[in-house]
Amino acid sequence: MAKDSAIYVCQSCGAVHGKWAGQCGACGQWNSIVEERQSAPPGALKPAATSRARGLQFESLETETPEPPRIFTGVTEFDRVCGGGVVPGSALLLSGDPGVGKSTLLLEVAARTALSGRRVAYISGEEAVEQIRSRARRMGLEKAPVELASATALREILGTLKRDRFDLVIVDSIQTLWSNVHEAGPGSITQVRACASEMVRMAKSGGPAVILVGHVTKDGQVAGPRVVEHMVDAVLSFEGERGYPFRILRAGKNRFGATDEIGVFEMGDAGLRQVSNPSALFLGEGKDRAPGAAVFAGIEGSRPVLVEIQALVAPSGYGTPRRAVVGWDSGRLAMVLAVLEARCGLGLGDKDVYLNVAGGLRINEPAADLAAAAALISSAVDHPLPQGCVVFGEIGLSGEVRAVGRAEARLREAAKLGFDQALCAPLPQGGGGAMDCLSVQRLSEAVERISQRRY
Ligand code: TYD
Ligand code: MG
Repeated sequence: MAKDSAIYVCQSCGAVHGKWAGQCGACGQWNSIVEERQSAPPGALKPAATSRARGLQFESLETETPEPPRIFTGVTEFDRVCGGGVVPGSALLLSGDPGVGKSTLLLEVAARTALSGRRVAYISGEEAVEQIRSRARRMGLEKAPVELASATALREILGTLKRDRFDLVIVDSIQTLWSNVHEAGPGSITQVRACASEMVRMAKSGGPAVILVGHVTKDGQVAGPRVVEHMVDAVLSFEGERGYPFRILRAGKNRFGATDEIGVFEMGDAGLRQVSNPSALFLGEGKDRAPGAAVFAGIEGSRPVLVEIQALVAPSGYGTPRRAVVGWDSGRLAMVLAVLEARCGLGLGDKDVYLNVAGGLRINEPAADLAAAAALISSAVDHPLPQGCVVFGEIGLSGEVRAVGRAEARLREAAKLGFDQALCAPLPQGGGGAMDCLSVQRLSEAVERISQRRY
């Protein structure tokens, strides 16, 4: 044991070492071990009163007290992703790449909540009050009664929050907070963990709901918010492809709601705009689709969303053909290509294959298999799909096309946007509604239909 209480903590994974080393033995990261002095074990700033153990008081599952009403922030997309508003006294983490719009989103949330009559504090450790004001002005929210502060000292923040009773507190960001109990610098894993656990404890013991912002960095220098994910009730991530104005809010963990909901926003000059009809956005204008484009009728969370999947099959100029995918899983593309080759006789082994989900959305549903396959077939045979046609279905390794869930919702959304045909697994009698169903039981039937233009 060292004379002083110096410990060496990997800033990438949080492993504690007895001495410094160039590489962390636990996660293999180089140059990530930093000396930290410890006056109290992490997560135990104030040692709990060591009164004699009194034993546990068990409670029943049933309760007489009604649940406290949720805090509706007024940003509908945000509320939906939270599972229907923010639960009072809960702790949320919002993570995302730098510049994706976390501060913008939370300022909007803070302002709309304050306008609905709740007491809201916005504490920023990153920006000066004047900067936040100017952003609020740009977004037209400067009249909202948000209580604004620029602070980083945890003691000061906790003291204030204990004194004043807020409904919602936003802390931007957890990496800038520091607690004087620990000597490690702000942003180090020790500080992030200690500050987050104190904030969460404050929320849980009858405090306000807390939303913490966490940065995701790729280089591993600054402690990522991973350690915080276990402490909070919900982890929301804000994502966006560079170059696209669309931003998608997802719940990765949620103790109070489903995790598959998404919220769609569009970043503009005056802040974020909520997109209540994402299909129209992802499909873009114009219904004339070129060979290689297929409209996938997908489901994101509880909502049907139509997106265009684009494929390009081109002769390969080099020895090894290229496969590039944006917005979809490259493993699934490999599987679809293998099934096309082995079960349908459509070999693309000597071709370059590019697949792109338009609009910057990322699709995770297996139901997109058939749409991706249709796009590939259409590009390979150079015939466009029928203009008013949507596609969905899962593909099995033996080449069968399987029915997927919520077909009706998918078709309804497609009909709403003017589509009248669907290429999918056979639907139950009358399941297609007004849509003309071009059913296929095997992928080879889809290849025949598209190459012979039999619709
Ligand atoms: P910001 O919320 O500061 O991102 P984060 O907190 O996640 O780092 O948003 C930064 C980006 O958003 C910045 O590149 C500019 C853009 N933006 C707009 O395009 N319009 C706006 O009205 C605002 C406020 C920001
Ligand atoms: Mg920010």
